Amino acid sequence: MPALVLLGAQWGDEGKGKATDLLGGSVDYVVRYQGGNNAGHTVVVGDQKYALHLLPSGILSPGCTPVIGNGVVVDPSVLLSELSGLNERGVDTSKLLISGNAHIITPYNVTVDKVTERFLGKRKIGTTGRGIGPTYADKINRVGIRVQDLYDESILTQKVEAALDVKNQMLTKLYNRRAIAVEQVVEELLGYADKLAPYVCDTVLVLNQALEQDKVVLFEGGQGTLLDIDHGTYPFVTSSNPTAGGACTGAGVGPTKISRVIGILKAYTTRVGAGPFPTELFDEDGEALRRIGGERGVTTGRDRRCGWFDAVIARYATRVNGLTDFFLTKLDVLTGWEQIPVCVAYEIDGKRVEELPYSQTDFHHAKPVYEMLPGWSEDISKAKSFSDLPKNAQSYVKALEEMSGAPISAIGVGPGRDETIEINSFL
Ligand code: GDP
Ligand code: IMO
Ligand code: MG
Repeated sequence: MPALVLLGAQWGDEGKGKATDLLGGSVDYVVRYQGGNNAGHTVVVGDQKYALHLLPSGILSPGCTPVIGNGVVVDPSVLLSELSGLNERGVDTSKLLISGNAHIITPYNVTVDKVTERFLGKRKIGTTGRGIGPTYADKINRVGIRVQDLYDESILTQKVEAALDVKNQMLTKLYNRRAIAVEQVVEELLGYADKLAPYVCDTVLVLNQALEQDKVVLFEGGQGTLLDIDHGTYPFVTSSNPTAGGACTGAGVGPTKISRVIGILKAYTTRVGAGPFPTELFDEDGEALRRIGGERGVTTGRDRRCGWFDAVIARYATRVNGLTDFFLTKLDVLTGWEQIPVCVAYEIDGKRVEELPYSQTDFHHAKPVYEMLPGWSEDISKAKSFSDLPKNAQSYVKALEEMSGAPISAIGVGPGRDETIEINSFL
C-alpha cells in the first residue's frame, strides 16, 4: 500500500502545507520527517487560515493521525503553544504521535543559533533563528537531548551537562555572553515532560505496522530540495535532509515502502535568507510576484526573494528525489503578464549549461537563459479542470512539465483546499 513523500522542489515555501492538507482527508498518517519550527506551512480551509510550524499539516484532517518522526527537531514550548492554539480553535490534536527519538531544541541551542549568525556578520546564512542548526549539530556530535530523555532526570542532567560544558566556554569566552545554568535548563525541560507524555511513542513501530496493515502514509517534508544539507546550495541550506531519502531515515521506513514522491513546485521561484538564486528579480516584476503571491515568510515575517521559474532546478529536484509527480502551485499568481520568462538553462562563464553545476563557484556565476512563454489575462482561480485553463496557461504548464522531467499531476490556482486542478490522482 502506498507510502507517499511530499516535498519541496525548490527553496521551500512551495505550498507543501496546502498540498498535504488536500491529501489529508484520504490518508491515514501524515508524518514530518525532518526540520523543525523553521518551517511555516499555511493551510486555508474555508474562511479559516492556519499557520503550522512543527505539526504535520494532516492535523487539520480529523481522520488522519499526525506524526512527528525521529528526524524532526522539536522545540517543546513551540509545540505546546501550537497545540493549544489549535485546540482553542476547535481542532482535535489528541491523535498526535511524537517519536521518543526526536531531538529537542533546547533554549541554549536557540541562543547559539542567534549568536553564531550575529558573529558571521556579512557571511550569515540568514537562518530562522530557531536553533535548528545547533540542535542537529549536537545530534551529530552525540551530545543531543532526545524527547525520551525528559523521562529520566539523571540521564537528562548528565546530557545537559555534557552539552553545556563546551557551549558555556564558547558563550562566555568567545561570544561574551553569560553562561547558561544546567539546573535551569533541566528544570525547564522537565516541565514539558508530563504535557508531552500522552503523545510520545515508538513511531517507527507504529508506522511500519500501519504500512503492513495497508494504511496510507504521507511523509511531509519541511523546507525544500535546494535547502538540503547534502543536495542543496551549501552552505546556504538548512541542517537536515528534506529530499526524499530523508523520509526513510527521518521516519524509520525502508525505501522499498515508498511508492510515490511528489515534488511541490511553485510556478515561479522564491527564496528566504542568503545564498545564490539565479533567476532572482530586483525589478518591478519581482515586486509584483511578491505582492500578488503574498510572498512573506510565515515563520519570520521576512519578505521572500522572488524570481522566474527555473527549470534547471526543477530537473535537479526530479533527479535527486526520484520524483514521480509534480504539484504545480500558484499558477494563478502569474495571471496578467503578457509574456512569462522561464529559465531553461544557465550561462556560466560564457558556456551554456543544462544541468545544475555541482560546484558552488559555478553556481554563483550562473546567469539564467530565458525562453519567453506567452501569458494570459483571464482569471483562472475558478478553474476546476485542465481544459478550463486558457490556452496559454495550458501551454505554460505543458512547457514546464516537459522541461522538469516528471508529470504535473495537480495545479494550484488559489490558496484554498478546493482551488486545485487534479489531473492524475495521487492515491
Ligand atoms: P510551504 O512552506 O511549502 O507549506 O508554503 P507556505 O505556506 O510557506 O507558502 C505558500 C503560500 O502560498 C501560502 O500562503 C499558501 O496559502 C499559498 N498557496 C498555496 N498554494 C497556492 C496556490 O495555488 N495559489 C495561491 N494564490 N496561493 C497558494
Ligand atoms: P518551509 O517548510 C523557506 C531557510 C532559512 C535560511 C536557511 C537555514 O516553510 O518551506 P535554518 O533556520 O533552517 O537553519 O535556516 O533555510 N529556511 C526556509 N526557507 N522555507 C522554509 O521552510 C525554511 N526553513 C528554513 O531562511 O536561509
Ligand atoms: Mg513555508
